[in-house]
Amino acid sequence: MSVPRPAAVVVLAAGEGTRMRSRTPKVLHELCGRALVDHMLTAARGLTPERLIVVIGHERERMREHLSATGPDAYPIVQQEQRGTGHAVRTVLEEVGTISGTVLVTYGDTPLLRTETLAELLAVHAGEGNAATVLTAKVPDPTGYGRIVRDETGAVLGIVEEKDASPEQRAVNEMNSGVYAFDGTLLTDAVKRVSTANAQGEEYLTDVLSILREDGHRVGAFVAGDHVEVEGVNDRAQLAFAGRVLNSRILLAHMRAGVTVVDPESTWIDVGVTLEPDAVIMPGSQLHGTTSVAAGATIGPATTLTDTEVGEDAVVRNSVCEGARIGPEAAVGPYTYLRPGTVLGRKAKAGAHVEMKNAEIGEGTKVPHLTYVGDATIGAGSNIGAATIFVNYDGVEKRHITVGDHAFVGCDTMLVAPLTIGDGAYTAAGSTITNDVPPGAIGVARARQRTIEGWVARKRAGTRSAEAARRASAEQAGHQQENGT
Ligand code: UD1
Ligand code: CA
Repeated sequence: MSVPRPAAVVVLAAGEGTRMRSRTPKVLHELCGRALVDHMLTAARGLTPERLIVVIGHERERMREHLSATGPDAYPIVQQEQRGTGHAVRTVLEEVGTISGTVLVTYGDTPLLRTETLAELLAVHAGEGNAATVLTAKVPDPTGYGRIVRDETGAVLGIVEEKDASPEQRAVNEMNSGVYAFDGTLLTDAVKRVSTANAQGEEYLTDVLSILREDGHRVGAFVAGDHVEVEGVNDRAQLAFAGRVLNSRILLAHMRAGVTVVDPESTWIDVGVTLEPDAVIMPGSQLHGTTSVAAGATIGPATTLTDTEVGEDAVVRNSVCEGARIGPEAAVGPYTYLRPGTVLGRKAKAGAHVEMKNAEIGEGTKVPHLTYVGDATIGAGSNIGAATIFVNYDGVEKRHITVGDHAFVGCDTMLVAPLTIGDGAYTAAGSTITNDVPPGAIGVARARQRTIEGWVARKRAGTRSAEAARRASAEQAGHQQENGT
């Protein structure tokens, strides 16, 4: 649908959002990796408005900081005191002057509103030649909302707030979404004439409709197809509900594009995540931030990825990865934690109960079990035995460890940084390696074993161990007799 580009979109977000009971301003609460206000701004940007204005008031410094970081194209205007939605719009127009052309007014707390719906509202507004067009919806329970008042022909007369409504008006189930398209020039004049003679003593933006109509201008309404889309977030229950709706939209788009989502009910994917066709997301997984998953990779079950890149055909099971790059055909997990700076090469493995940080693991190198790798570079085709620790921190400084290609680190090895294990070098199991091991050498660093015969019989006489040992030596003696040895 081609619609005229609005002259401005004004997003009202000055209120406190008391019902959230939060230290965080309501519109900065996040859903699917994006603040509520940014969901609205994203939908608004889809209309390519000439100006994008956000009215701020409560926690204005935090709001300003947030906007300059995430939406520098959105121009903040401060409403010093929240004296109503009409006052908010009046404040904008007094600061920027009359905006000629269409002005779209929306709220910062309606994250489900889509560009398509706003475009439909604009199309109706332009098509009918209205001075004002309100986006409405028929809802099962309109409690708390302003009601749309129509005459017997269905023409819109105005909007009445619940607190000011008569019992008949309260029975109306067509609610005001709070989203409107206005003729900017007429709006500038009308908003100055809004009174505060109402139950809340506020300047109601809703009054602009009846003012314009009484002036002889056309006002209209566009009824949204889906009332869920226009419902705002006022408390944490509505926040969770909106999150579910947004998440299912995101999942649906991925599934339509060829991604398998085994259990949409238990899968959460942020707006900024990219998935290639034939990626498979198993139940209980969450993909956050700028995570990307290439074709054929399997994520989950029960895996959380944040800002992580997963290569083609890789498998990441029951793990938590943050800021990691997992190469094609690599394997991660189960129960593994990859922290920022982890880079796994093609076909590399970070197996069960492995933690890695700032570590580059070469192609085909395996770190299969119970190991910590921090601040390290490991070449290709190496094997790191179970329960190896890269001892990178001496309490003051973090130091680097380099392991070459086709090296073999025995089980239960402490590699103490700074250290270099050469290409093709080995370390003996149970060693604490503090000196470099050159290519092809083996580093052995452990005490030689001492075996003290008969110790249990002497020191643990009468125990089950002593009895088992006695039986074993009696049996051995018996065998020796049979064999005549
Ligand atoms: C408003 C509408 C109501 C509609 C409902 C939809 C009016 C008078 N009523 O009621 O018809 O059904 O929205 O959700 O407009 N805000 C400011 N500055 C202010 C006051 C509000 O920026 O001075 C912002 C708030 O941050 C919020 C939005 O405007 O995002 C709506 O304000 P709110 O007080 O929640 O209006 P409602 O009483 O819900
Ligand atoms: Ca509200």
